[in-house]
Amino acid sequence: MKTIPLTRPYMGAEEKRLISEVVDSGWLTQGPAVTEFEKKVAAYVGVRHAVAASSCTTALAVALECLGVGPGDEVIVPSYSFIATANVIQHRGARPVFVDINLDTYNIDEEKIEEAITPRTRLIMPVHQVGLPAHMTRINRIARDHGVMVIEDAACAIGSEYEGRKIGTHTRCACFSFHPRKVITTGEGGMIVTDDDELADRARSLISHGASVDEEAKHKAEGLVIVHYPDFGYNYRLSNVQGAMGVAQMDRIDWLLERRRSLAAVYDRAFGDHPRLVIPYVPEYARPTYQSYMLRIRDADAEERNRILSRLKSLGVQCTPGICAIHKEPYYAQEYGQVCLPCTEKAFDTTMIIPLYPHMSEDDQSYVIEQVLSVL
Ligand SMILES: Cc1ncc(COP(=O)(O)O)c(C=O)c1O
Repeated sequence: MKTIPLTRPYMGAEEKRLISEVVDSGWLTQGPAVTEFEKKVAAYVGVRHAVAASSCTTALAVALECLGVGPGDEVIVPSYSFIATANVIQHRGARPVFVDINLDTYNIDEEKIEEAITPRTRLIMPVHQVGLPAHMTRINRIARDHGVMVIEDAACAIGSEYEGRKIGTHTRCACFSFHPRKVITTGEGGMIVTDDDELADRARSLISHGASVDEEAKHKAEGLVIVHYPDFGYNYRLSNVQGAMGVAQMDRIDWLLERRRSLAAVYDRAFGDHPRLVIPYVPEYARPTYQSYMLRIRDADAEERNRILSRLKSLGVQCTPGICAIHKEPYYAQEYGQVCLPCTEKAFDTTMIIPLYPHMSEDDQSYVIEQVLSVL
């Protein structure tokens, strides 16, 4: 029996060559490969600054700190997201205020944002779920009307476009993830992208212990360097080995995205007419990454969805339930009590993610399609 993985990062000869170049150089901590990776991401997205971090979680945490989010503040987020979206807010001592999603896009329902705004709201943080951009024009307009900031949890969305422009250019800052399940990977890794010089400088410093001199400058200096720590920071740095991987991945990002989009189109055609399946909806303003291919099962409940997933797994098709509903997770349920988010809960109960990765073969995809249709 075949086994088709849910995902598999693409690692080619160039990744291996650049990694071994870094290993041979002996410069393993943050260094020139990270800087080159940052430059490539900034140029690709179309922003002045890209600041690498050890993950999207640490990138978001630093971004929130730079923007002064702290105790007593509220941050509006969708609950239908990976737990990190809320954790970074909670760790700041602020409160995540969960807003329901639109069931077509799985993104925050902008119609429901205004009713969640209070005098304590500092920030709206949309998530571009599985790489489909949220409705940024509407979200930015609401934020402007109420004098609150917007930043983006763009973990899944490097390369996504909203109204013809890359995600990362529509707000004060956005953070990407380079976890192996994302569009490009460095094993673990993240990046803050911004046009805000001050935010970029402070983020860069916080990521490296609040130091007055960054690692690369320290390494390159010929004379004596005395480092001071004017800020109170962390070690959230990306290593040079990861940077090398990022450089090679950025060189093939267009191909990686093209493959994801064409594989998604094959799934769309195979499942689009099925009476029980809802394929991903793409609004006219959006060009998604298909970081994951997520289906919804019409008229199902969680029990039936889980039965379908178990059956698919027994047939060698690796698959998972969709995204989590953060407000239902024990820590948040206990912290904030009952929150009623019907679309989030419906998506949580009835969605599933099936295999999709850039170098998936036609045969493997046909096998997945066959098994999904037979189990349904
Ligand atoms: C929406 C979202 N936000 C944040 C994260 C955290 O990213 P990382 O694993 O790079 O910290 C993820 C990762 O899955 C995510 O999907």
